[in-house]
Amino acid sequence: MVNFREEIANILEDKLNKDQQVMTREEIESVIEVPPNAEMGDYAFPVFSLAKIFRKNPAIIAKEVADSISSEYFEKVESKSAYINFYINKLKLASEILNEIKEKQEDFGKPGIGEGKNVVVEYSSPNIAKPFHIGHIRSTVIGDSIKRIYNFLGYNTISYNHLGDYGTQFGMLIVAIKKWGDKEVIMNNPIPELLKLYVKINTEVELDPQLRDECRNWFARLENKDEEALELWQWIRDVSLMEFNKVYKLLDIEYDTFKGESFYSDYMPAEVEQLERSGALVQSEGAKIVDLSKYDLPPALIIKSDGSTIYITRDIAAAHYRHTEHKPYRNIYVVGSQQILHFQQLKGILKEMGYDWSDEVVHVPFGMVALEEGTLSTRKGRVVYLEDVLNKSVEKVKEILTKREEEKGEEIENKEELAAQVGIGAVKFQELFNQRIKDYVFSWDKTLSFEGETGPYVQYVHARICSLLEKGGFDINNEIDPSLLKSDEEYSILRTLYNFTDVVVDAHEKYEPYFITRYTVELARAFNRYYNHTQIIIEDELLKNTRLMLCYAVKNVIKEGLGLLGIASPEKM
Ligand code: ARG
Repeated sequence: MVNFREEIANILEDKLNKDQQVMTREEIESVIEVPPNAEMGDYAFPVFSLAKIFRKNPAIIAKEVADSISSEYFEKVESKSAYINFYINKLKLASEILNEIKEKQEDFGKPGIGEGKNVVVEYSSPNIAKPFHIGHIRSTVIGDSIKRIYNFLGYNTISYNHLGDYGTQFGMLIVAIKKWGDKEVIMNNPIPELLKLYVKINTEVELDPQLRDECRNWFARLENKDEEALELWQWIRDVSLMEFNKVYKLLDIEYDTFKGESFYSDYMPAEVEQLERSGALVQSEGAKIVDLSKYDLPPALIIKSDGSTIYITRDIAAAHYRHTEHKPYRNIYVVGSQQILHFQQLKGILKEMGYDWSDEVVHVPFGMVALEEGTLSTRKGRVVYLEDVLNKSVEKVKEILTKREEEKGEEIENKEELAAQVGIGAVKFQELFNQRIKDYVFSWDKTLSFEGETGPYVQYVHARICSLLEKGGFDINNEIDPSLLKSDEEYSILRTLYNFTDVVVDAHEKYEPYFITRYTVELARAFNRYYNHTQIIIEDELLKNTRLMLCYAVKNVIKEGLGLLGIASPEKM
């Protein structure tokens, strides 16, 4: 598809540098902007910086350059004070978009810029034996969307779930299970039961130092691969993962690997050696730390005084493993903003170790979720299980559908499937609607309201277009005439469709799925305005088929956009 920005850069590169090189191509590209309103054109180029070079008033420069431009891509090039404003040739835009959709169909707008590059995306990474609560939905859904966005752009992604399945707390849990646990009871309700045991052992060790030693002992046995310890730990991991997998299934989210923290325990000795060798590791009160004052960061504790390694040590090993395994262009961690320091330290340590690939590590943080009654706290029992949120949303959609069945007196096919697609989609859409760094307060009312700018609204527009295409007998091979698309509503849709690729590219550069969420709303809105204003199924075959082709493009792009958010696009609603 023609790139209008590039065309402008071509033209200006030629015009401005006629007698002498005044601006490089990169400089020109970086100055081109999109004006705040359409009356000022589709693109604008300010010439302030040229006044000195040409020794002329900027408005005069703008006028002279604008007057000298004639291009098939722009129907008008005008100067307004110091700006050169470019108005896209509408016919050109219409034929570009319609040809692209005809030719590429489902692949409309895919630029393939990531071809040949690996990208690791880590997301969700809950701690086993702990609740999978709404605090985890963010990492899970944002990470999954980032993975889909990278895939769309042609990158080869590898998704990791870095399960929290290692650490001294498992010594405690093993002791608690051995003392008070009943496997049968746990099996029936794994996470809440394991949580109860964990809370109990935490209280007990406070009172009984000997018990604490016993827990330490069991963790040491686990580290030394003692059979009994390993078996119990494996069991805890298996039942937890079984629970988590229910949620991933509901969410339709998959992983390439569940290599959790425990996986890296075998890789840690080599990292500790490298830390020693590079001179980064220093003794401090019996423990071993890395000094990071060079980076303006507090020192990082690597090995505790009792010799045990910790969370960050496993992350060093994990980063190195991913590097060796995938040689990624980016190694992305979608983890909450509470861990910003952790990842800054991790990068600092990797640098100190002499790993020249440390810049591939990218932390993508997001804000916290709180409950109306306060921060989430598993200890205090303030948890909302993610599974409950998802199930409730699906239930609510089902109720709405049942009511509709009663009103219409006819059954909805695939009611279950549809309820899942809409209910889960609504939760995801809301989750991905704002800039990720913003904190928010979870509210049942808001989550279960489907009014306004919501997933169901966008899905509905998609379904409406599907039935419109069917009713109009749409066929991709029908003859069309792009020059018939002349109305403002049509132009606004064409412009929005044209922006799709740029929006996805921006979303991937800034790791912000909400660019796409907002975009799907904008496109759905533009379509609704069109639909309310224009009769699409009409006598005139050529005009009808051209309009249907435009509708088809909107449908595909909405579907693709929702797909990038991990949301399904049902054809009937
Ligand atoms: N398990 C951790 C938690 O629940 C998140 C892990 C993040 N990933 C990482 N590589 N450190 O807080």
